[in-house]
Formats: sequence, C-alpha cells, structure tokens
Amino acid sequence: MVAQIKVAGLWKIFGARPERALQPEYAAKSRAEIQAELGLVVGLRDVSFSVDRGQIFVVMGLSGSGKSTLVRCLIRLTEATKGQVYFDGEDICTYSSAQLTQFRRQKIAMVFQHFGLLPHRRVLDNVAYGLEIQGMGKAARYRAATEAIETVGLKGWEHYYPREMSGGMQQRVGIARALAVNPDVLLMDEPFSGLDPLIRREIQDELLSLQTALHKTIVFITHDLNEALKLGDRIAIMRDGQIIQEGSPEEIVTLPSDDYVTEFVQDVSRSKVIQAQAIMQEPSLVVYERQGPRVALHTMQSHSVGAAFLIGRDFTLRGIITQEQAAALSSQHQESLEDAPITPAMTTTPETYIEEIIPLAAQTEYPIAVVAENGSLLGEIRRGVLLTGLSAGSEEG
Ligand SMILES: Nc1ncnc2c1ncn2[C@@H]1O[C@H](COP(=O)(O)OP(=O)(O)O)[C@@H](O)[C@H]1O
Ligand SMILES: [Mg+2]
Repeated sequence: MVAQIKVAGLWKIFGARPERALQPEYAAKSRAEIQAELGLVVGLRDVSFSVDRGQIFVVMGLSGSGKSTLVRCLIRLTEATKGQVYFDGEDICTYSSAQLTQFRRQKIAMVFQHFGLLPHRRVLDNVAYGLEIQGMGKAARYRAATEAIETVGLKGWEHYYPREMSGGMQQRVGIARALAVNPDVLLMDEPFSGLDPLIRREIQDELLSLQTALHKTIVFITHDLNEALKLGDRIAIMRDGQIIQEGSPEEIVTLPSDDYVTEFVQDVSRSKVIQAQAIMQEPSLVVYERQGPRVALHTMQSHSVGAAFLIGRDFTLRGIITQEQAAALSSQHQESLEDAPITPAMTTTPETYIEEIIPLAAQTEYPIAVVAENGSLLGEIRRGVLLTGLSAGSEEG
C-alpha cells in the first residue's frame, strides 16, 4: 500500500544561498553552529516519515522546533531546500503551479491556530469559502457547507458572524470549512492551542469522534504532549528541525529516546496512556471446571499457590477458586466444580488504562483478570506489576 503522505529527506534552510548548509562539512554541525558560521537558519533537517491513510500523525515539539515549517512545506507554502514530499505516490515538489493549485484546493485543507475566518462573512459563507474558490455554484456549496456545519455540531449558527461566537465554536467553524471541501488530508497547525483547557478537551474529543466517522488522514501539530498522546496514532517529536523520535503514543511514553523526550514525558502520568494489555502477564494458574475439585486442589498444591482462575466449560472465566474452597468441595465428595462457591474475580478489558485499574486492585488480594469480549481469560495483572508499570514515569513524584 502506498502511504498517503511520504516525506523523504526534507531540508529547509532559511537565508541566502541555503545550499551552503548542505555541504558535507556541515553534516555534523549543530543548528547553532550553522547559524553562527553561515548565518543560515536550519528550519528542517533531513526529515523523513510517512503517514498511512486514515491515520492521525502528530508532530510535537517546542516552539521554534520547525513544526510550522514542516506543514508549510507539505503544501509548498514554503519551498523545501531539498527532499521530496509525496501524496499518494506523487512528488508534489515537481508539480506545475496549475497542478499545485488543484492539489491545494481539492486534496488538502488546513486548520490554523487563529482560525483564519473571514470576519465579514457569516458562518455559512466562511464554511462555503473553499467551495466558492473551486467555482462551485451557490446552491451546491451551501448544501455542502450546511452539512459540514452540522457535522461539527453548529447547526443553527449558519447566519452568525465569527465574532459572535466563542473561540471553541470559531474553531469548529474552521474545521467545518476544512471538511466542506471533502479533502483526503487535513493539516492542523496547533488548532486548539489558543483554547481554554476545558473547551480544548471537548474539541479534542469531537475531533476524535469525527475521525471515527470520516477517516481522514490528519497531520496534527501541537506543542502539548497530552494532546499528542490523546490524538496521535503515531507521534513524531521534533527538536531543532529534526525528528528525534517517532512512534506510537505508548512507545514514546515507555521508551523515550533521549533526555529531551524524557523531559516531555515526565509530565505525563503513564497511567493515562498504558493499557491493561501492555502490562498483563500469562495467568499464573488456571483450573478447569471439568476437572473437578480434587484435580483443582492438587494443581494448586503442586504449584504452591493459594488460588487459581477457574475456567468454565465454555472457556469463559468464572472466577477465582481458592485451595480452601476446593478442599471443602473435595471433602464433601463433590465431583464437579459447576456449582462450586467461588470468589468473583476483578476483571478488566485489554484496552482499559492503568489509571482505571488501580482502584480495582485495592479491592482484591488476587490478580486482576484481563478478559476478552467473549469472556475468555487473556491474562492477569498482578499488583506489583501495576505499581512498577507506573513508577518509571512518575519517579519525580
Ligand atoms: N521565513 C523564515 N525566515 C527565517 N527563519 C525562519 C522563517 N520561518 C521560520 N524560521 C525559523 O525556523 C525555525 C522553526 O520555526 P517554526 O517552523 O515556525 O517552528 P514551530 O512551528 O515549531 O514553532 C525557527 O527558528 C524560526 O525562527
Ligand atoms: Mg508553529
């Protein structure tokens, strides 16, 4: 499968005769050294990545790390000094200006931090703007705009002006305008950075639920790690124009590649991003209903464990059986575990975040069972693991 977006060896050097910074003798020099010696600013340094269709690719970094330069190069608002940018396998850096115009109007839409709305146009005309530029007739573009406005939850606001709306609502207009042209790709440059935390969380949730329905390919820029972890399928971390780490949210949090990433990650509670399936282990011991109490007791004794998960005839988890319970049944000459009095197990799904599992652990002395949708036992989480799973990222308190 061809990646929707592929960036290969992209460089952007700002200043006169930028190719000077590409010479081999500068390959090992830092951004600061290049600036001091040549007076050139390294905006992007050998950036490569690819984004699959339907993915949210987050680019994260501190201010000045090159994020905006990168998105601008993706649509040639800034021309790269070197390297290639492919959309669906086509290098857009080779496009003629006519091809480029068509690409910008139809394939891609941008959402900016400061909304970029036209103040003298009502919401409907703001949202229809991209279609108007495409030359679409009034009736058709109003139809598409109305639909996009509904999609972002602003039905009823079509005839208001941006200044009559809150920041969060204005940014929804920005998103509606981007969606109205039905682009394959959305480029979002810190779209939520100007919003209050509560509004921001809300609009992040809305973007995720929109994405579930729309499956756009999204390049999302942020300087906020929590936002990156929440939205990203993949996250690339930039520093001084370079991508210094790329990975899934979980990889970024569990294996930060260097001190810079570690510093970012320290602020994030690992419990919010690590799921049960990442820390679960093979169940230490299971016994089966069909085995009967004597075999169950023997199995527990020979493994020197006080309790085991009991699996039913239908292979679903029934609960926990202790040595005492098995011994009692055995002395009553019960042949079956079918109606055995057992201890209910604390259960969780593989996708549950550690944050929600910790309170469960406090309620039981036994491991927590990780159970699939069909009721089968996938693994167990022991208390110790739950705590060590957390400690690496929260040492500082
Ligand atoms: N047109 C330009 N001319 C010179 N330097 C620029 C220009 N645009 C950006 N830069 C520099 O490139 C670096 C990256 O900027 P930018 O991509 O805006 O970072 P970010 O979006 O991550 O905050 C900064 O040091 C910035 O000063
Ligand atoms: Mg920026």
